[in-house]
Amino acid sequence: MRIGILNSGGDCPGLNAVIHGVVGAASKLGWEVIGFRDGFEGLLPPGDYRVLDPEDTVGIMKLGGTILGTTNRGDFASKVGTHDLSAIADSIVEKAKRTMDQLEIRALIVVGGDGSLSTALHLYREGFPVIGVPKTIDNDLQATAMTFGFDSAVNCVVDALDRVHTTAMSHKRVMVVETMGRSAGWIALWGGIAGGANVVLIPEIPFSYEKVAQCILDRESKGYLSSVVVVAEGTQLPEDEQCEPGELNSHENRFGGVGDMIAEKIQQLTGKETRACTLGHLQRGGAPTSLDRILGMRFGVKAVELAREGAFGQMVSYEAYHVGSVTIEEAVHQVRKVDPQGEVVKTARAVGISLGDC
Ligand code: F6P
Repeated sequence: MRIGILNSGGDCPGLNAVIHGVVGAASKLGWEVIGFRDGFEGLLPPGDYRVLDPEDTVGIMKLGGTILGTTNRGDFASKVGTHDLSAIADSIVEKAKRTMDQLEIRALIVVGGDGSLSTALHLYREGFPVIGVPKTIDNDLQATAMTFGFDSAVNCVVDALDRVHTTAMSHKRVMVVETMGRSAGWIALWGGIAGGANVVLIPEIPFSYEKVAQCILDRESKGYLSSVVVVAEGTQLPEDEQCEPGELNSHENRFGGVGDMIAEKIQQLTGKETRACTLGHLQRGGAPTSLDRILGMRFGVKAVELAREGAFGQMVSYEAYHVGSVTIEEAVHQVRKVDPQGEVVKTARAVGISLGDC
């Protein structure tokens, strides 16, 4: 029996732990694992792959990135931006099928986020024996309570905030730190709470510049001369609220940059020197945390179990401390957003963090 694994879309700390889990569990069953390079592109004839022996995966768990390479572009990209879906050409599907047949791949484990899992679903519907494994630092897939990579990204934000606090204090400045997360505020909210932010702005909660400025000035009147504002990259600016429902706001298609705009406005309204800092891909790089290593490995082992059961079209999921599975169909196209009335938001408010709204 031979199975394949590929990771697709943006990289994410913990991908190598998944590979480690898959190869370990498969070798116990006497199966051979083929690792396709650079996502689905590796499926194109003649096939770009390497055989993964257990020895190849020794020590990879602690490495960031992925030993297989990945891409979120190319012939299989089914999702380009938030609203852009493109069909995969039949000729491309046929070519991938040829590679699968030639290599006698009996199960294909696809490790990816919403876009890559949409591609996986497409291939499953075309008869590919696909098993999905959810991956995204954004933690925004509806069908799983958590994805590996999220904890590492949050830790990066916390580390950055620890540093930003000290320079903000020295200069009595406002520092605005922009995090990733696309249209969900998980990284900003968790990172902001754990890193002691004073204001956290997320896409799920509309904010007003005046409230943010008020919070900063209130702090100043109490003797706190610096403030740290965390802003999720997908946060909607107040000026974008004029958009019709479903219409793109001015920055939605180019995540990154909203922090600069908010910093400028804060400086105008408070008269305080304000600097912006975009964390960007720092949040995706580097070694995974222990939580992400374990979660990734558990996901990999579960994926092999699903392959053994022939449970194709399923995606590994995590719910209530248990690794189980759901159909890939249930998992895709449903962004899991922060609940504005939820317990984590309430926690933030309870400890005095402003969400920019009240
Ligand atoms: O979805 C993961 C993510 O890191 C987002 O948080 C971010 O907006 C996007 O990918 C960045 O993608 P790229 O690496 O293509 O710039």
